[in-house]
Amino acid sequence: MTTQHNINPIAGGVMSLNRVIDPMRTFTRAKGAYIFDDQDKRYIDYHAAFSPYLLGHGDENVDDAVRNAIDRGASLIGAGITPWESEVSELIVDCVPGLEQIQLTNTGTEAVMYALRLARAATGRDNVLIVQGGYNGGMDYVSFNLMDSRDVMQDHTPGTAYPLRPITAGIPEVVQKTVRVVEYNDLSAVEMVLSNSDVAAFILEPILQNVGIIKPEPGYLQGVRKLCDRYGTVLIFDEVKTGFRHGLGGYQNVAGVTPDLSIFGKAVANGYPMGVVGGKESVMRYCTDSDVSRRVMVAGTYNGHPLVVAAAIATLGKLRNREAEIYGKLDTLGQQMESGLEQIFHSRNYPTTVVRQGSAFVVYFMDHAPVNWRDIAIHNDAAYDVGYRKSLIENGVFHFPVTTKQGSISFAHSEADIDQTLVITERVLNRIENS
Ligand SMILES: Cc1ncc(COP(=O)(O)O)c(C=O)c1O
Repeated sequence: MTTQHNINPIAGGVMSLNRVIDPMRTFTRAKGAYIFDDQDKRYIDYHAAFSPYLLGHGDENVDDAVRNAIDRGASLIGAGITPWESEVSELIVDCVPGLEQIQLTNTGTEAVMYALRLARAATGRDNVLIVQGGYNGGMDYVSFNLMDSRDVMQDHTPGTAYPLRPITAGIPEVVQKTVRVVEYNDLSAVEMVLSNSDVAAFILEPILQNVGIIKPEPGYLQGVRKLCDRYGTVLIFDEVKTGFRHGLGGYQNVAGVTPDLSIFGKAVANGYPMGVVGGKESVMRYCTDSDVSRRVMVAGTYNGHPLVVAAAIATLGKLRNREAEIYGKLDTLGQQMESGLEQIFHSRNYPTTVVRQGSAFVVYFMDHAPVNWRDIAIHNDAAYDVGYRKSLIENGVFHFPVTTKQGSISFAHSEADIDQTLVITERVLNRIENS
């Protein structure tokens, strides 16, 4: 007998409140480049569950590794170490030159939490600097200034910090007092904050990918590195989205800038829940400091869960063994998408700009590539973007229906998928313009 509930047992109606879509849809399965709803309608997927599926949904090698782990009885023991935890740790530090030591978590959010703790232990300071328009997970210290259109109204002077705008209720005031916010690509604002407040950590995505793809201006990341060194601040790159998507060594390797700490997640286990916090031994050593008052606790029942570890070993092993082939294909498909979209949008009588990094792409409805969130808030036609995304979904191409959310191509996509996406895109735009 089923119980009838008068109220939805899921508060908010979705698990993870950023999954709200309008109209609401129920999805039942996914394979390769496609997701399927409960009517078995197929969508070419560029959302990729907010981007972890670098190899595509249900990658055979990854799923086989998980099945094999189940078959060999790889249950969570929760004491000592397993050979697979050692193997995956070796693999991760081998792939990313900026990492000497790591700890595994279950999510990016937890990894951020531990990174901030480590930075505070290492510096003896409390304050944290974050970036306007960035997202670093759901914990209190970073839940500010996400995509707030009130910033359009505000007269902001470059070189200064932003007023704090919590993105959630429930953050104690004492926490708010420790957070500062600057625009991305504004080095003088970073200097202003670091020189005036004792900042333990500056955490940022090396490419601002929460609001599409905002690339660092030449010298920005190098400048941030220098300023953190000058003021004794721990530099944390949040590579939860950029990591492994833009190359095995993280975007830090592409940019040639090594942070003190890094966060990885999403693509590291191709959709299985893993977060990684890691970095220089000089900071990670606070996990085991002999002075108990400076020792940072990193603990979690499910950290290093054997099924997730198996998925990560298979994912990273495949990426490493077939690095040139996989990243080569991802870039070729990305180019095909970029040039196809540029051709389609070129002749329209409204401004658009396509921005791409490897297999990640976005169309901004504005006449230039943005340099920060405020630039987007002022110039991007968000309403048109959302309408465009909803029409694409109706026609079998799934982009998340929120403005500027990045598209993610996977190794499972084919040239034919991109061609079909471009045909649908052109049809959708013609229909919108003629309606
Ligand atoms: C850049 C970035 N950092 C951190 C997180 C948090 O990761 P998780 O959702 O696994 O907690 C996300 C999630 O979208 C993210 O995009």
